[in-house]
Amino acid sequence: MVSYKDLGLVNTRAMFAAAVKGGYAIPAFNFNTMEQMQAIVQAAVETKSPVIMQVSKGARNYANATILRYMAQGAVEYAKELGCAHPEIVLHLDHGDSFELCKDCIDMGFSSVMIDGSALPYEDNIALTKKVVEYAHKYDVSVEAELGVLAGVEDEVASEVSHYTKPEEVIDFATRTGCDSLAISIGTSHGAYKFKPEQCTRDPKTGKLVPPPLAFDVLHEIEKKLPGFPIVLHGSSSVPQEEVDTINAFGGKLPDAVGIPEEQLREASKSAVCKINIDSDSRLAMTAAIRKYLAENPSHFDPRQYLKPARENMKKMYIHKIVDVLGSDGKLLQQ
Ligand code: G3H
Ligand code: 13P
Ligand code: ZN
Repeated sequence: MVSYKDLGLVNTRAMFAAAVKGGYAIPAFNFNTMEQMQAIVQAAVETKSPVIMQVSKGARNYANATILRYMAQGAVEYAKELGCAHPEIVLHLDHGDSFELCKDCIDMGFSSVMIDGSALPYEDNIALTKKVVEYAHKYDVSVEAELGVLAGVEDEVASEVSHYTKPEEVIDFATRTGCDSLAISIGTSHGAYKFKPEQCTRDPKTGKLVPPPLAFDVLHEIEKKLPGFPIVLHGSSSVPQEEVDTINAFGGKLPDAVGIPEEQLREASKSAVCKINIDSDSRLAMTAAIRKYLAENPSHFDPRQYLKPARENMKKMYIHKIVDVLGSDGKLLQQ
């Protein structure tokens, strides 16, 4: 058993309380590779932002669970080396799908876990979440739960349509499970194709797809039911058009990729939404930079040559999210 406290990590409790009160959101960036980890830490340190580094089941399968845990430990030391005396880094399990997976992460030093029982019947979701909360809270590890179903793929769970979170269920769910934060469904979804073209309108000037707005009425109803309770938005990549254009210009094929407009995420950050999950935008930033670099430098084959601009591009994107969208810059609790 390793305690995250001994690794210099923190749980989400204090940072979420401050974020809800201060009207900003904490970035939750997924990582699978060293370059993503470095870019996340550099961006967080430069902007003096707290940050959640999250690991999916897919990331554990790709990179190895132990390696990712040591990378997070390395992230804390790296942040200090970059000049941040008191880094606020959470190591979070994204979309945990079983008690055993959550326990394994808690036992190896994660400071926060998500138990995603959103595809289960309501009572089963409550029972599973409660079991994880009881174990996690023994070690002061925070727990995110999910109520409502996002359209698209949630790790191995796929749903054709979204089912918005029912505001009338949230008090019962939060009270009976004891979870520390709640991921809700208000129209976001995972990946780079968040909406089908037929769900969108077209901007007559640019011809680009304009997605339907998020269900802010549902969010506000939930806020009224659970005042001050930390709310989480998954599937919150914006799918920047310039990255999609670069990918397509250099041999890629991402037709009609569309994300959540940043103005809506900015608005959500000012509410009880205090954690915003971003993964796809990092993938797009990395892929765009690599495709461009290799197309322009066909004789290069040292991975460091193309991973360096990829890392720079991801860092630029992370800083932009922190400063211009979520507003978590300068929000370290201890400077
Ligand atoms: O919620 C999904 C995250 O983007 C993680 O994706 O399962 O492909 O690592 P992944
Ligand atoms: P995106 O696919 O929109 O980046 O969402 C990531 C996410 O929700 C991870 O849990
Ligand atoms: Zn997610």
